[in-house]
Amino acid sequence: MDKKKRVFSGIQPSGSAHIGNYIGAIRNWAAGQEGKDNIFCVVDLHAITVPQDPKELEENILETAKIIIAAGIDPEKSILFVQSDRPEHAELAWILNCHTQMGELSRMTQYKEKGEGKQSVSAGLFDYPVLMAADILLYDTDEVPVGDDQKQHVELARDIAGRINSRYGKDTLVIPKPTIKKEGARIMSLSDPKKKMAKSAKGENSYIALRDDADTIRRKIKKAVTDSGSEIVYGKDKPALANLLTIYSAFADEKIQDIVERYKGKGYAEFKQDLAEVVVQGLAPIQARLDDLDNDPGYVVKVLADGAQKAAPIASATLGRVKNKIGLG
Ligand code: TYM
Repeated sequence: MDKKKRVFSGIQPSGSAHIGNYIGAIRNWAAGQEGKDNIFCVVDLHAITVPQDPKELEENILETAKIIIAAGIDPEKSILFVQSDRPEHAELAWILNCHTQMGELSRMTQYKEKGEGKQSVSAGLFDYPVLMAADILLYDTDEVPVGDDQKQHVELARDIAGRINSRYGKDTLVIPKPTIKKEGARIMSLSDPKKKMAKSAKGENSYIALRDDADTIRRKIKKAVTDSGSEIVYGKDKPALANLLTIYSAFADEKIQDIVERYKGKGYAEFKQDLAEVVVQGLAPIQARLDDLDNDPGYVVKVLADGAQKAAPIASATLGRVKNKIGLG
């Protein structure tokens, strides 16, 4: 029998998880669980690359784990753990740092957007993609399901692994590949379709949080910017509508073409009203599971503790192998 593909992915415990995280990433983690060897991680060490309030961070770590479980990750089928519970991540990151070029990190789009040129930015923010490479490479990962914004980081992980393999032997690290769905890989802000939907965005009308109640969702979708014109069409010249149609398609599990066909001759108002209901209904089962988890916080703590234990032998085997190869055995 073929060895199961190893899947690894992560999400930061910062701000409120939104429908972009869900459509671009978590939904695909859940859908791909069967037949694969899955590991998902709440990456708290990544979150501290920008200032965090300690109490809020602690709450957000649990909240993010709840979101992942509520969105369909089954702890019986997948390992779910918190990054800082496994010290191997930081140790491998140091080794990878010594095999990464400053120039490579300077070219990372996300760093350029968030921090380039600011003296006050932490060294951790600059180095963030190397820690992410360590997360991935530590588990001999084959596939990394992410949204489009993380593609460059996964490619860097491939480059670093390739460099290490060519120096120390090709069986040192497994070369991972990003798995990015064609549709929904970049959900855009509801208030500016040129920017991606982000937890850190100013103005909470720009995103729909997975915890938003029905009225909040209706209000945000009603306020969402639209393009000039009045017909429901999909195209590059209509980025706001294309984004709303993508969200509709993801939650209704219906092809964009079919949705466009159905709304021929109908206006934005009707489309937006229906879209709001589709999102409300799509999030309802996730929110119901979140309510259950809120009432049973001990369960999530246990899942995370078990997850860190299950991750341990995999992480320590890879770290040991790498250290041996490079003469730190
Ligand atoms: P993070 O926490 O920003 O986002 C988690 C996942 O959600 C995806 N995503 C989106 N997808 C579509 N549209 C959007 N607007 C949108 N916003 C976010 C992200 O692409 C991501 O898949 N660096 C990572 C976390 C990380 C990681 C890893 C991921 C750390 N180590 C190892 C994979 C493997 C991040 O900040 O994701």
